Amino acid sequence: MKEIDTVPFEVNQLLEAVYFRYGYDFRHYARGSIERRIRYRVEHSELENVSQMIAKVMHDPDYFNLFLNDMSVTVTEMFRDPLVFKSIRNQLFLRLKTYSRINIWHAGCATGEEVYAMAIMLEEEGLLERSQLYATDFNNHSLAVAKEGIYSQQHMSKYQKSYKKSGGKKKLTDYYHTKHEHIKFDQGLRQHITFANHNLVKDKEFAQMHLIMCRNVLIYFDHQLQQLALNLFKCSLIDRGYLILGREEALGSAAMHAVFESIDAKYRIYRCSACA
Ligand SMILES: C[S@@+](CC[C@H](N)C(=O)[O-])C[C@H]1O[C@@H](n2cnc3c(N)ncnc32)[C@H](O)[C@@H]1O
Repeated sequence: MKEIDTVPFEVNQLLEAVYFRYGYDFRHYARGSIERRIRYRVEHSELENVSQMIAKVMHDPDYFNLFLNDMSVTVTEMFRDPLVFKSIRNQLFLRLKTYSRINIWHAGCATGEEVYAMAIMLEEEGLLERSQLYATDFNNHSLAVAKEGIYSQQHMSKYQKSYKKSGGKKKLTDYYHTKHEHIKFDQGLRQHITFANHNLVKDKEFAQMHLIMCRNVLIYFDHQLQQLALNLFKCSLIDRGYLILGREEALGSAAMHAVFESIDAKYRIYRCSACA
């Protein structure tokens, strides 16, 4: 296989071309991972270099979709970091219970496993009926999977363990039906979830959120883009609303520390003190 030299200038041109032609802005994604992904796609196409890729991306929408998929890492699971979910169940829900309506936004939901996990917890704590979950991503392919709520059965025993660790009160099998090798989550969970395409780089805030989960997304952004996304969350949260980031992610600036008070440093749970 050809080893491709990702010349920074060519990569810049490619990202500018994508932004100009399609409006997707990857110019402030973490550079190392962007270059790895571009190198992978060039090596797996009949192309010699990044410059050739520019022409293909510009004129071939199917190839652009391939590129878009390459740019998003959609790895996810149910009750990923179960103790974060335990903390949500035992601490945050106590306060969320005081609201007559609860809005939760999963930003960068990938294929949706995390949002079904949240719906299950809300159901067990008697909060699902008054909750509306918004699950967004800029990857339509992942969103289509999330909307269907159909997953391979092979992961379910791992998810069952994480569910129990997170304080799950029943059995995960109580929430889905099995057909052949797949499971489908019950309509009762899905009817509280709205799935939508939303790009954190260019789209607007969601109003009046009580809780935002954005885990393992900012890690792919550079500092400038991280601050932009955090500002979007600030504008989306109610006062004293909660923000949860991934284990490897941080607020990254004094300005954001002034807005988001850390209430659980280990699990990256913050409360907004200067929100709408
Ligand atoms: C690693 S997954 C995280 C999934 C889930 N939050 C979790 O922690 O398990 C990262 C997701 O972020 C999405 N993403 C990346 N950039 C985005 C952007 N600018 N706007 C919206 N979603 C984005 C990707 O498409 C991908 O589905």
